[in-house]
Amino acid sequence: MRPAVAEVLRRAAPGTVVAASEGGRPVALVVLADRRAFVVDDRCPHDGGPLSDGFLDGDRLVCARHGWEVDPCSGACGRRQVATRSLGTV
Ligand code: FES
Repeated sequence: MRPAVAEVLRRAAPGTVVAASEGGRPVALVVLADRRAFVVDDRCPHDGGPLSDGFLDGDRLVCARHGWEVDPCSGACGRRQVATRSLGTV
């Protein structure tokens, strides 16, 4: 069972991606190097892989399965979109 976003956020380091849950759905908590944090739907728009298994390349979230890139700030992934929500600076 995944921990809640609030629980993970307390110990998430800048530059990391962590699996969490929000309202019972799986999400990826993304904390950028500048400490801006985002809750991103944990489903890659390419083939449904878990984005929480990915990594950050600068401000881009890279899916570990095939390398598609998501902008956690806007949710943009090429011409597709991923649900994202800002938590502000943490
Ligand atoms: S499932 Fe994410 S890049 Fe393919």
